[in-house]
Amino acid sequence: MFVTEQQVQQLSQLLKLDLSAYHPQQLQRLVTAFMQRNGFAGLNDLIAALYGDLGLRQRLLDSLGINVTQFFRDPQMWEILAKEVLPDLLAKFRALRVWSAGCSIGKEPYSLAAVLQKLDPNGNHSIIATDIDETALRHAQRAEYSADDLNEIPLAYRSFFTVQNGSLAVPLALKRMVRFQKLNLLSDPYPQGIHLLVCRNLLIYFRPEVKPPIFQGFSQALVKGGVLFLGASEVLLNPSAYGFAPLQFGFYRKL
Ligand SMILES: C[S@@+](CC[C@H](N)C(=O)[O-])C[C@H]1O[C@@H](n2cnc3c(N)ncnc32)[C@H](O)[C@@H]1O
Repeated sequence: MFVTEQQVQQLSQLLKLDLSAYHPQQLQRLVTAFMQRNGFAGLNDLIAALYGDLGLRQRLLDSLGINVTQFFRDPQMWEILAKEVLPDLLAKFRALRVWSAGCSIGKEPYSLAAVLQKLDPNGNHSIIATDIDETALRHAQRAEYSADDLNEIPLAYRSFFTVQNGSLAVPLALKRMVRFQKLNLLSDPYPQGIHLLVCRNLLIYFRPEVKPPIFQGFSQALVKGGVLFLGASEVLLNPSAYGFAPLQFGFYRKL
């Protein structure tokens, strides 16, 4: 199957997501698999069905892997964050401004809130958590997760969360640190004066051509000495072109 530009535009409108920035082959592979699983013979049939079916739209979004997230995703990288990167940032700056870009349903910013709370219980830190997907942001604001999700949280942080009536609750102390906002990384202005910028498992979906302005924007958003934290399978190939120096696997310091 070949996805035409017009079909990409229609899918982008339906899913409220700029799919033109996505890797075409990856998009094609995922949409084809979705069509096969759901019994659609052609992409135009799927598009026609998507118009009237919110549930199908959500299932397609889910199967594009676009909202997949976890608390403390790649725990070994969160250990480096908690043991090395954040203590260093806390020693240099008093109140940290953290940006979780592409925060999905909020597990990432609440993980960040728990780490900050553990490292500096009396601190005055703030987390701006942004995403393009309003449904995901509403879920993030409700902060209600399945009790099973507690298994994603490392033992050292489990006491920061509570399980009530079969669901995992995020306490007010952590919720208060996080402010959610809709933001499209491809077109909206970025927050400024950031000390830690967390953008994980989002840029892997994007075509190489759209990444340089994003990294440029990230560099401008960060204060000197601030840190960019990427996903486990994402690499910034030429960090110095954007004023970054590699710090640890997945971490880059703004020079
Ligand atoms: C795979 S999730 C990653 C969530 C989280 N960062 C993590 O690593 O667990 C990618 C998120 O990026 C968001 N996203 C996709 N395109 C975006 C864009 N152009 N601007 C902002 N967010 C976008 C999606 O809605 C989704 O919530």
